[in-house]
Amino acid sequence: MAELAPFPLETAQALLSSYGSPLYVYQSALLRQTIHQIAQSIPHPSTQFRFASVTNGNIALLQIVRQEGWGLHANTPGDIYLGLQAGFDPQHIVYSGSNLNRPEMEQVLHWGIATLNLDSLAQLQLCCDVYTSFPSSPPLKLGLRLNLPELTGDSRIGVRPEEFPAAIAIARQAGLPLTGLHFYRGTGTNATQSFTNAIHTVISAAQKLPDWQYLDFGGGFGYPYQHGGAAFDWPEFGAQLSDRLAQQSRKIDLVVEPGRAAIAGCAVLWPKWFLSNGKVKFKLWALIPPSRTFLFPPFMVVIEKFLHGKPPKPYTPPMFAEIQLTREIIWVKTVSYPL
Ligand SMILES: Cc1ncc(COP(=O)(O)O)c(C=O)c1O
Repeated sequence: MAELAPFPLETAQALLSSYGSPLYVYQSALLRQTIHQIAQSIPHPSTQFRFASVTNGNIALLQIVRQEGWGLHANTPGDIYLGLQAGFDPQHIVYSGSNLNRPEMEQVLHWGIATLNLDSLAQLQLCCDVYTSFPSSPPLKLGLRLNLPELTGDSRIGVRPEEFPAAIAIARQAGLPLTGLHFYRGTGTNATQSFTNAIHTVISAAQKLPDWQYLDFGGGFGYPYQHGGAAFDWPEFGAQLSDRLAQQSRKIDLVVEPGRAAIAGCAVLWPKWFLSNGKVKFKLWALIPPSRTFLFPPFMVVIEKFLHGKPPKPYTPPMFAEIQLTREIIWVKTVSYPL
C-alpha cells in the first residue's frame, strides 16, 4: 500500500491558502508509478490498458493516464466526452455501458468510438441499427458483456451464453462479427482468487463466440484501503491470465480496465474541520454512503451543505487530517501541520 503523501508543511500551507479546503491532492508521480506497476504485471503480449474513468473523470488526471500510454474505459457517454476533452484518441476508448437510447448511441458512434461491449440483445440491436444507418462507417469491434450468474451473481447487466446465438445473428445482419467478451467482477475486490478462479469459466464462455478475438477482463480490482488489509495481487493475476491466454489456439487481445486500483493510492484528502456543539465534526465523512460519486471532489461540499443546511463555520485545528481516498473512509491519519 502506498504511504500517505509526505507533504512538507510549506506545500500544505501553500496549497490550502490557494485552494482552501476540503481539498483533494493528487500526486502525479504516484499515479504514473501505479500505472507502470499494473502494466508490468501482465505479461500477455497484446494487452491494452483502459483506465475506467468512472472512478475519476478529472481531465488533468486523465491526461496523465493518456501520457502513460493507457486508453480509456467509458461507462457512459459522459465518460467518453471527458476522455475526448483529455485528448484520448476515440480508437483508444472502449465503451461498456448500458441503457443508451438512440440519440446517445448515435452520439457514441459519431464520436468515433469503435469498440463497444453491449450489455443486452436490445442494446446490440440498437448499436447495429445505428451503425448501418451511418454511411461509410468504419467497422466496429463488438463485444458482449457477460451475464453468468455463477460468476456475476444475479445481475441485470449482460448477455447470457444461451443468448449468444441470437446476438451473433444480430451482429451478422449488420455485417459485423462479435469478437469480444467483457467480464466485470464487481468493484473493490481484493481477493485475487475471485478473479483467477473465474478465468477458466470466462474463457470457456468466450470460446462460444466463433469470431472471438478479444477478452476484456474488466475492472473491479480492489485497493487496500485498510491498513494491513488484503491487497489485490497483480503479478499473480497477470501471470495466471497470461498463461491461460497463451494456451489458446488463436491470438487473443486482452483488455484490462482498472479504475480505483490505478487512482486511489495517489490521492489524499484534506478535509475541513469544524466545531459543532463543542465537538469536532470530523466523522461526518464516514457517513457518506458508498457511492462512486464520492470519488468526485465537488461532492464533499454538497455533503457539508446537505447535513448542515449551509456551509459550516470553518474551524482550523492545529493540524490537518490526511484521509486515504476511499468510498467508506476506513482509516484516517492525522499529521501535525501546526499553523
Ligand atoms: C464495467 C466497469 N469497468 C470498470 C469499472 C472500474 O471500476 P473499478 O475497477 O474501480 O471497479 C467499473 C466501475 O463501475 C465498471 O462498471
